[in-house]
Parts: sequence; C-alpha cells; structure tokens
Amino acid sequence: MTTDPVDPDLASRRLARESLGQDDPTGWFERLYSAASEGTAVVPWDRGTAHPLLTDWVDTAQPSGDGRKALVVGAGTGWDAELIADLGYDTTAFDISPTAIETAQQNHPDSKATYQVADLLNPPSEWHHAFDLVIEIFTVQALPIPLQPEATSHVSDFVRPGGTLLVIASARDDETPDDAIDGPPWPLTRAAVDAFTAPDLKLIQLDRSPSPNSATTHRWRAEYLRD
Ligand SMILES: C[S@@+](CC[C@H](N)C(=O)[O-])C[C@H]1O[C@@H](n2cnc3c(N)ncnc32)[C@H](O)[C@@H]1O
Repeated sequence: MTTDPVDPDLASRRLARESLGQDDPTGWFERLYSAASEGTAVVPWDRGTAHPLLTDWVDTAQPSGDGRKALVVGAGTGWDAELIADLGYDTTAFDISPTAIETAQQNHPDSKATYQVADLLNPPSEWHHAFDLVIEIFTVQALPIPLQPEATSHVSDFVRPGGTLLVIASARDDETPDDAIDGPPWPLTRAAVDAFTAPDLKLIQLDRSPSPNSATTHRWRAEYLRD
C-alpha cells in the first residue's frame, strides 16, 4: 500500500476550516506549527529565508538599525526577524503560536532578536507608538475579514512618531466581494492597504507586483511613515 503525500496547502486549509468552524479563527496556527514540529505537516508559508520583497526593500532603503527598535508581527519561525535584527535593530518578534516561537528560537540559537508569544488582537499596551520600524507580512490577511480592521489598527498603532511601517500582503481587486474569498488567506484590497493609514501615518510608497508563483496573483508592498 502507498500513501499519497498530503498537499501542504490542503493540510493547513483543513486545519483552518476546523478551527474556523469552531469559531476559533486563530487556533489552527498553533495546531499547524505543532504538527510541523512533529513532522506530520508542513507550514506552507515557511520559506526558510526572509521574504524577497522585504530583502529587496532593505537593499533599496538601506535602513540602519543602530539600536533603534523594530517589531516583526506574526513572525512565524523568524526568518524576517533575523534579517531585521542583523541590521542592528533591537528587534522584538511575536507570534500567537507558542510552537512557532519555540521553532524560531531553535532555528536561530544565536539570534539577536527577542521572540515572544503575543496576540495581535490583544497586544501589550506598552507597544503603543513604541517602534521605529514595524514589519507586517501576511498576518492580517491570515485573519477572517471581520477581524482585519482591528488587526490593522493595532499594527499601525505600534509605529512611533518618525517611524516606518512596511506591509507585504497578497492583493485582491476591489471588485472582488468579501464573500467570494474562500480564505485563508483573505487578500487585501487597496482600501485595506489604505486602512493602515492615520492622519499622522501616511502611505509613502505602494508597489503591486506579480507573485513569482502565479502570474494571476499579485502582492502589495506598502511603506508608511508616521509624522
Ligand atoms: C501566513 S503566516 C505568515 C508568517 C510570516 N509573517 C511569514 O511571512 O512567513 C501568519 C502568521 O501570523 C500568525 N498569527 C495569526 N494570527 C495572529 C495573531 N492574532 N497574533 C499574532 N500572530 C498571529 C500565525 O501564527 C502565522 O505565523
């Protein structure tokens, strides 16, 4: 008898569906990372390297950490956080999944970043306007659409005056209605990209580029600056 390999996307979608069916929209992340740590699942977004659009932004913008503070949202197993910490930022990286955080610490035993479990929907109050650089990649879109405004507003709130927010997300056409999206993920419309702004947090650069995996899928990279 042979066993067909399980498509990692299907396995994670099945876990997500069960979790969402139990009105637990974030519980599946821990179940997935935990299964992956036991070798029975694969985390489909775990690239084993920083996101290429983040690397490209770093190469172009050449930000200098120099002891300034950075926060990496929904950091998973830490590849983006390591890039930011290596730039000299005093980097905090958080995820809702304890196993993701343990895996990040195991992957990067000599890390300069601090990894911690935290919930974007209920973050520590001391993170209010506390970071010079905030990196958000694919976390907001991993939450059901009704939860996205609250998550978006917390991401923006982490940025201190003079600080930068970088958001990388899958893009959705504005004409595609919410109920046509069979998430996760629930990609972000242009309006959802604008929702990260505030009167003092301006969108200063927006790129929309095709995904390397599919010519019909696009990604946003948005950079914001707080006055
Ligand atoms: C699609 S993955 C992206 C991970 C990583 N940013 C990357 O690009 O590889 C979404 C991540 O957000 C985390 N996450 C989901 N909901 C969260 C929440 N409410 N608070 C913190 N992390 C959350 C998940 O555990 C997962 O690691």
